[in-house]
Amino acid sequence: MNSLTSTTYNPDDLIPEFVKLYGGKAEDVRIYSSPARINIIGEHIDYNGGKVFPAAINKYLYVAIRKRQDSKVIYNDVRFPGTFEFDINDNFVFDKKNDYANYLNGILSQLKAAGHKFDCGFEILMVSNVPAGGGISSSSALECGFAYAVSETFGFNIDRVTIAKLGQMSEHNFMGVNCGIMDQFIIATGKKNTAEMLDCATLDYEYAPLELGDYRFVVMNTNKVRRLADSKYNERRSQCEEALKLLQDSGCSIKALCELTPAKWEEVKGAVKDEVLLKRAKHCVYENQRVLDAVAALKAGDLVKLGALLNASHKSLKEDYEVTGIELDTLAETSQKQDGCLGARMTGAGFGGCAIALVHKDKVDSFIENVQKEYTKVVGYAAGFFACESGDGVALYK
Ligand code: GLA
Repeated sequence: MNSLTSTTYNPDDLIPEFVKLYGGKAEDVRIYSSPARINIIGEHIDYNGGKVFPAAINKYLYVAIRKRQDSKVIYNDVRFPGTFEFDINDNFVFDKKNDYANYLNGILSQLKAAGHKFDCGFEILMVSNVPAGGGISSSSALECGFAYAVSETFGFNIDRVTIAKLGQMSEHNFMGVNCGIMDQFIIATGKKNTAEMLDCATLDYEYAPLELGDYRFVVMNTNKVRRLADSKYNERRSQCEEALKLLQDSGCSIKALCELTPAKWEEVKGAVKDEVLLKRAKHCVYENQRVLDAVAALKAGDLVKLGALLNASHKSLKEDYEVTGIELDTLAETSQKQDGCLGARMTGAGFGGCAIALVHKDKVDSFIENVQKEYTKVVGYAAGFFACESGDGVALYK
């Protein structure tokens, strides 16, 4: 048993649990759901003005919420013992000992900074079927699900794009991670049976039907404990900024790396002399092109082409962006060799976390068995697997 195959929590149990914990009437409690995501392709380019192609999936976090008569803010999570208690009038600041409550306080701090006024406190009980730290964006699911629940409960009626931006601002200003907008955006705006092509330079987006015929996306969790992933993430981001600056200084009038087509990049790349920066920028430019090609392939029903692009993306993330590691490489490269698998790549930030593979539905079981065997042999512990379906963005569950 591992974090991705462990028992699924039934969200209908949340209201009785809520009433047991806090008392009062069940009718006043609302439950909001917030999905995990996979990114099909377009990695580490959301913060480089690139295009990305994520999808919300049917693994959800649930937030049960009710206003209080007083100004207390109380958080509980079915999975974790202990209660966090604050006051809505507190000046919320990051504090390591507040653990997951930091994600929620971060959102409250951003809501207040945006001028929203609270007339009372509230209490919540959460549960999640999204494995924590697993690379399918459990933290963004938490931020956006909570922001949406609070917004609806207090009548702020914040639109979905603004919910996404609040989540990202909370990461930047409160959690100290300079993430892009992709995760929060897909979690706030995702729609079942579609993937979303998001232009991170303009925030224009377009839904593409996720028609995979006999194929399924299998999510594979490395189960690696991620250390220092945030600092390495921020380091990649600064390296891209450095490469951009060198290009701009040489007279190239771009605002973001992903404005360059591969052909233009080949013309101007001489301005980036540092070998590491060169590799980082190259990844961005070519990954952006792969997204365009992948969306076209999916629209044309060419899953073989899509699979080949997934493989090329992984190779680039391994060799040029250097965010994979033995765990993700073993998962992706072993997957790529399996019968019935059209392609595989890491998804999300990397350095551990998850990979995805596009696998024929009749081969999913043998695929998982074979990849698990090889992974355990190479890495020394088991990976987690599940075949996923698409899901909906943040919503009222009941
Ligand atoms: C994390 C970040 C995203 C994005 C991906 C890499 O998931 O939160 O903004 O940068 O990594 O594509």
